[in-house]
Amino acid sequence: MLSYHYTPLLDSQAVKGIDITSRPWDLNDRIKSYAQPDSIMLDIGCGSAKKLLAFTNDFLKIIGLEPNDLMYTQAQKNIKSISNIFLIAGYAQQLPFKSESFDLVTEMLAPHDNAEVFRVLKPKGHAILEKTGEEDKKWLIDFFGQDRFYFKDCADRTKNFYIQDAKNIFSKVQFEEGSWKTVYTYDELIVLLEQAPIVKNFNKINDADILARIKKDYCKNGKVILTQQRYLLTVEK
Ligand SMILES: C[S@@+](CC[C@H](N)C(=O)[O-])C[C@H]1O[C@@H](n2cnc3c(N)ncnc32)[C@H](O)[C@@H]1O
Repeated sequence: MLSYHYTPLLDSQAVKGIDITSRPWDLNDRIKSYAQPDSIMLDIGCGSAKKLLAFTNDFLKIIGLEPNDLMYTQAQKNIKSISNIFLIAGYAQQLPFKSESFDLVTEMLAPHDNAEVFRVLKPKGHAILEKTGEEDKKWLIDFFGQDRFYFKDCADRTKNFYIQDAKNIFSKVQFEEGSWKTVYTYDELIVLLEQAPIVKNFNKINDADILARIKKDYCKNGKVILTQQRYLLTVEK
């Protein structure tokens, strides 16, 4: 089911870049606002689980779900000294949990399935779902052409789809969108293109001509600026 080879390098500074404008919301604060001393959280597609470390004191128990072996192994290392974070291997489309198990379900830039999220949430439970927006890294994607865009064929990655799909299932749906700017060195941009699912079949040798044009048109003092765009759905069962 995994169509992209995710690696723990996705967590590197090179891939994340450096924020030069402020983010539209503080995702950690949003997640913590749903925490109670006895609440249980599930994070779908937790990757290296680094982001979960921020919540250990806020939730009774946190489960990270991750299907990718490399990510899972890295996550095991990252949580080894934490007693209330647990990892389970599995997919968003078939959550390996009993119905009504969680107070909060999160998903940060990973796939999710609303019917499955609904099923595993306790009555009146909440989910916070973070998606990459359609304008995310737009000039970069346009430079390589829509045919090379990794998610070109995923018609369900639009804002309207996310909103409607959530409204079909949950009793309350709040949608927000926001963007901020991030700076990368030219070398970091190459790492980003090699590690993140942005451009299909990216290869810095084969794509040398395109990279030369990016360097000429978009690189200032050896750096490029990208716009990051996110959608945030906060839903209640
Ligand atoms: C972009 S990474 C985000 C990781 C982490 N949530 C974060 O924000 O740092 C996407 C993660 O989703 C996982 N993933 C991909 N397909 C999945 C699926 N069908 N079900 C659950 N997780 C999936 C990948 O293995 C990867 O770890």
